[in-house]
Order: sequence, then structure tokens, then C-alpha cells
Amino acid sequence: MGISEREIYDVVGIGFGPSNLSLAIALDEHRADSADPVGVRAAFFERQPSFGWHRNMLLPSATMQISFLKDLATFRNPVSRFSFVSYLHASGRLPQFVNNQDFFPTRQEFHQYLEWAGACFTDRVAYDSQVTAIRLPAEAGAGSPECLRLEIRTGSGTRRVDARNVAISTGLVPRMPKGVSRDERVWHSSEFLEKYSRMNPHDLKSVAVVGAGQSAAEITRFLYDSLPDARVSAIIPSYGYSVADDTPFANQVFDPGAVDDYYFGTDRTREAFWRYHSNTNYSVVDDEVIRDLYRRSYEEEVRNTKRLHFLNLTRVEDVKRAGNETRVLLRSLLDDDSPELDVDALVFATGYDVMEPTGLLGELDRYCLRDAAGRHRLTRDYRLVTTPELPCGIYLQGGSEHTHGLTSSLLSNLAVRSGEIAESIVRRRAEHERERASARPMEDVGETV
Ligand code: FDA
Ligand code: NAP
Repeated sequence: MGISEREIYDVVGIGFGPSNLSLAIALDEHRADSADPVGVRAAFFERQPSFGWHRNMLLPSATMQISFLKDLATFRNPVSRFSFVSYLHASGRLPQFVNNQDFFPTRQEFHQYLEWAGACFTDRVAYDSQVTAIRLPAEAGAGSPECLRLEIRTGSGTRRVDARNVAISTGLVPRMPKGVSRDERVWHSSEFLEKYSRMNPHDLKSVAVVGAGQSAAEITRFLYDSLPDARVSAIIPSYGYSVADDTPFANQVFDPGAVDDYYFGTDRTREAFWRYHSNTNYSVVDDEVIRDLYRRSYEEEVRNTKRLHFLNLTRVEDVKRAGNETRVLLRSLLDDDSPELDVDALVFATGYDVMEPTGLLGELDRYCLRDAAGRHRLTRDYRLVTTPELPCGIYLQGGSEHTHGLTSSLLSNLAVRSGEIAESIVRRRAEHERERASARPMEDVGETV
């Protein structure tokens, strides 16, 4: 079975990262558990040529930031065949994993798990396929449209697919400081390994990493270990790296129940979540990586050598580029000085903006209601609130920090969220079918008067 342009899908997923992969699993398991042999008809489009989860940050010793039990399915269905434990069993590594006594696998191993799960859905995923627009079908006319039409750019042209619902899951958007452009020597962390692999390491005598989050610390450690003769500068806006709080009480903000507390809470509730718990995720670093870096710095003191430099309380203001030369203009928050630094490569580990569906929605955005702060309104089941002229469901996986809280861009609640979206799609489809049946003339439904 392939993806057909002739049928109307119940749901089309835009992007096939962990979020929509988890939705594909939830829909599959719903079909298996119900009496419906066909199930929800779903198709997914992914712009990458094959499955990939932040490939450019698959650094050798980077570990997951959540327990392996927060996989694609377990929190929704602990006996799912798509759990991380099932993957370990299938790979013949379950005993060894348990012997290792570690809740946090490497990102490389988790990537293998995601690829293993993704490989079960090749019949309903098209890779190398970027969704460029969602529109109303031209033939929809003035009445309520039954479906949405997606335009998809592929290697061989454009295709169009119709869907009653869409699930947008296009992921985080790399953020650079205003006015700074990326090129072959100025990189964002999201493109790190690809850009790094294009360089001759001998040409990298001085490199710098900007930021004090997990990406910055991991890349600084990697560059220091991979370039034994290079000067490595870490430009950090804080006095030193701060630790990511993953202690048990704080970690409750990632529990499925916290979504209700956040969604149904007041503005003050939501503000408290951010005020007290941003340090579980943003601009923070795992304890182990901080200690690793400090140890390297201390060993340099003992050896009386210095090539790892921490420029603390410092922000990047601008970058001047000419040929192979890269000059970084800094601002020290210590003395308001404006030092400059020449480097051979510069990595901006300056974070990400949240997913924003406006570009994909285009004209459709005018049917989507916004709150007083101008942000999209969402129902509890992650659907954009639309005016009655647009009855089709547009679900967001990501971009819901303002309504559903801190887990929006993370893996923590992915299994449960996908289950909620799958249930919503199934429920709405049943309602739709009931409405159609009651609107049909009696002879159409095969009844005699
Ligand atoms: P993700 O970004 O993974 O997937 C979106 C997909 O959509 C991509 O494959 C992209 O190519 C595709 N796409 C985008 N636009 C498209 C279009 N128009 N058409 C078709 N396809 C399109 N969180 C956590 O809880 N624990 C962790 O350990 C980590 N680790 C981590 C490491 C790194 C380096 C980063 C940057 C982030 C994390 N995260 C994390 C957070 C991260 O957001 C999370 O792990 C998932 O990637 C979220 O999955 P999604 O599927 O929502 O987005
Ligand atoms: P982040 O946490 O948002 O950190 C961005 C950093 O850049 C902040 O310290 C920020 O400081 C700094 N910054 C921004 N502009 C700057 C400037 N002009 N000059 C100097 N510093 C500047 O981003 P991230 O580290 O990429 O993490 C994003 C997400 O990915 C998190 O969820 C993280 O957990 C995840 N991640 C996970 C792994 C893993 O699983 N192993 C690895 C990497 C990332 P201010 O806050 O002061 O602006």
C-alpha cells in the first residue's frame, strides 16, 4: 500500500519525527484493539530523505535527557510492541541494558530505537516530501469544506493529498542572534555534525561555541576532545553553566497530569510553572556534562596548559565575516567591555523557537482563533480552535507551550498526547459518519419505508 492522491485520508501528519511516529503507533494500536479492520486512514510526509532525529547532534557520548520508559508508547500502553524495552528485546540487548543499570540511554541508541519503530510504517510515510501549504480544496465552494488539501514538494515534483484532519509536527526552529547569518564557518548547533564533517580538522586552530545550554556544553566537550591542538572558547552569558533540575519533585512538571493542571489553570498557574521550572529544560546542562567540562579545565590547570577558555558573563553581539576569517564581536556583562575574538569556526548553540504553524496555514490562519496575546487557541485535545467555517481538525504536536505547558516540545508526554489526539480523531470521525448517515435519504442507507 502506498499513499494515494485519490482518497481522502482521515489524518495526514506533517513531519515524521518522534511526535507523529508516536501518533502512527497510537492509531495502529487503536485499530488492533477495535472491531474496525480498516482503522483510521493515515498518511505522513517527512522532508528528510529517511528517518532522522536531530542527527547533527548525535555526538558520541550524548545521553538522553529522559528515562527510556518515556518512549513512543509505554506511558499510553505499557504492553505496546513499540516500547523501548521491545526494541531492546528485538535487538538481543535486553539483559545487557539491564546490567548497565542506566535509565538514560545514549542518543545514538535511542535514535536506533526510533528508526526501528519508524521502519514499521513505510507503507504510510513518504520521505523527501516537504509539505509547503495547507489549503481549502478549490472545489470546496462556499459551504463547509469536508477536507483540507496539502501541497507537497518532492524530488520529482508536487503532489496533493486531501485529509479530514492534519497533525502538524514540524519541530523546533533553530534560533540565531538577530542579524547573524549562518555559512560554512558560522553554524547553528542543529547543523553541527554536518558542517563540522566538511572541515579539515587541521584548519580548525581556534573554535568558539556560543550559549550555556545542553547543546553548547555537549559541543564544547566534543570539540575539545576532537581537536587536541585547538583553542576552544566557550562564550557563556551566565557566570557558569547551570544544572538541569531533574530531581523527582521538579520532574513532576513533565507528568501527564501536569498538562491538565496547566491547561485548566489560571494565568497565574501557568506563570508559576515557567517561573519555578524553566530550569528543568532551558539554558541548563546535565550535571554529568558540567562536571566533565570542569574536570578538563582543572586538568589544564594541573598541567599548566591552556586551550579551553570560558568567557563568562559574555554575549555575542555580531559577527564579521571575510573569506576564511571570522571575527566575533562580544559584550562582556562584567565590565561592559566589547572584546573581539578571531576564530576558524563559530557554533551558535543559541537554542530554538517553538513550532509555529502560521506559515503552513497561510490563508487558513484567518479561521484560527487567537488569545488576547495573539497566540493560537487550542482545545484540550491539541486542536486549533477555528471558526465554524473550518470544521476540519488541525492538531498541533508542539507549539502548545502557552496552552499545554513545558512538555510541548519534549518527548516526556509524547505517548499520552498522541493517544489523546488519536482518540479525538476517531471520535470525530464517528460523529461525522453519524451525521452523514442521518442526513442521507432513507433509500441510500438501504432501508425500506
Ligand atoms: P522533530 O523536530 O523531532 O521532528 C519534526 C520533523 O518534521 C522533522 O523530521 C522535520 O524534518 C520534519 N518537517 C519539518 N517541516 C516539515 C514540512 N514542512 N514537511 C515535512 N516534514 C517537515 N526532548 C526530550 O524530551 N528528551 C531528550 O533527550 C531530548 N533531546 C534533544 C536533543 C536535541 C539535540 C534537541 C535539539 C532536542 C531534544 N529534545 C529532547 C527536544 C525535541 O524537541 C524532541 O526530542 C523531539 O525531537 C520532538 O519531536 P517532534 O517530532 O515533535 O519534532
Ligand atoms: P537553550 O537551552 O535554549 O540554550 C540556548 C543558550 O544560548 C542559552 O544559554 C542562551 O542564553 C544562549 N544565548 C542565546 N543568545 C546568545 C548570545 N547572543 N550570546 C551568548 N549566548 C546566547 O538551547 P539548547 O541548549 O539547544 O537546548 C534546546 C533543547 O534541546 C532543550 O530541550 C535541551 O534539553 C535539548 N537538548 C538535548 C540534548 C540531549 O538530549 N543530549 C542535547 C542538546 C539539546 P540566554 O538564555 O541568556 O539567552
